[in-house]
Amino acid sequence: MSAFERVTETWGDLKYMDLPRAEFLRDLIVQHDLSDLLELGFYKGKSSAYLGAVLEDLGRGHLTTMDRSSARGHQPGISDVLAKVDLSHRVTPIFAHRSFTWELGTMLERTPRPQFDFCYLDGGHTWDVTGFGFLLVDMMLKPGGIILLDDLDWSIARSPQAKTPAGRATYEAYSEDEKAAKGVRMTFEHIADHLGYDIEEVPKFQWGIARKRIPKKGLFGRK
Ligand SMILES: C[S@@+](CC[C@H](N)C(=O)[O-])C[C@H]1O[C@@H](n2cnc3c(N)ncnc32)[C@H](O)[C@@H]1O
Repeated sequence: MSAFERVTETWGDLKYMDLPRAEFLRDLIVQHDLSDLLELGFYKGKSSAYLGAVLEDLGRGHLTTMDRSSARGHQPGISDVLAKVDLSHRVTPIFAHRSFTWELGTMLERTPRPQFDFCYLDGGHTWDVTGFGFLLVDMMLKPGGIILLDDLDWSIARSPQAKTPAGRATYEAYSEDEKAAKGVRMTFEHIADHLGYDIEEVPKFQWGIARKRIPKKGLFGRK
């Protein structure tokens, strides 16, 4: 049995990543020969397990994945999910104190600076977190690399989580127009486009795929 099938068999009922999306990710990783993966927002680690499984089946690569410290409290947690399908060696979880934007900032300062060829951006969803997250990832993304944005049409106004007492407290300071806005889509349509990414939507999954261009050789053969 492949590692990918093992994840489906063991964790098929766990929230969030579903099989059609996982299969799409697998095909994307194979088609674009992606190996150094980053994920922002792992929750219980189901998507992380799928991404790790794709790499395991290919016999190469590693996933670095981030969520908040609060993700340590999940049952099962990411460590249990990965261990049960023998994929702990393919994935490094990072628990951010407040937000992955800070941990990404500390990564930028490392020598050598980490380099990724894929990022699954599935956390935050607000304009600030997604837009700034995209810029930070761009600084560590190889030419030809891909950023996949989940939940293009998410808004605070339509989010069930924002209607809970904790959610209401989190979004209290936002204006009505910001609550109605689609921060992920704004990132996709303005920031990715501004940075010269090739962009393509996958409407059935509400996904946006942004691919960093490979610089053409300029005058005199320089890049
Ligand atoms: C939809 S869940 C991720 C689901 C996961 N990718 C899957 O498919 O199994 C989004 C996660 O993003 C995390 N998150 C949201 N904003 C964040 C931030 N600013 N920093 C770190 N994690 C964040 C939340 O804690 C939550 O666990």
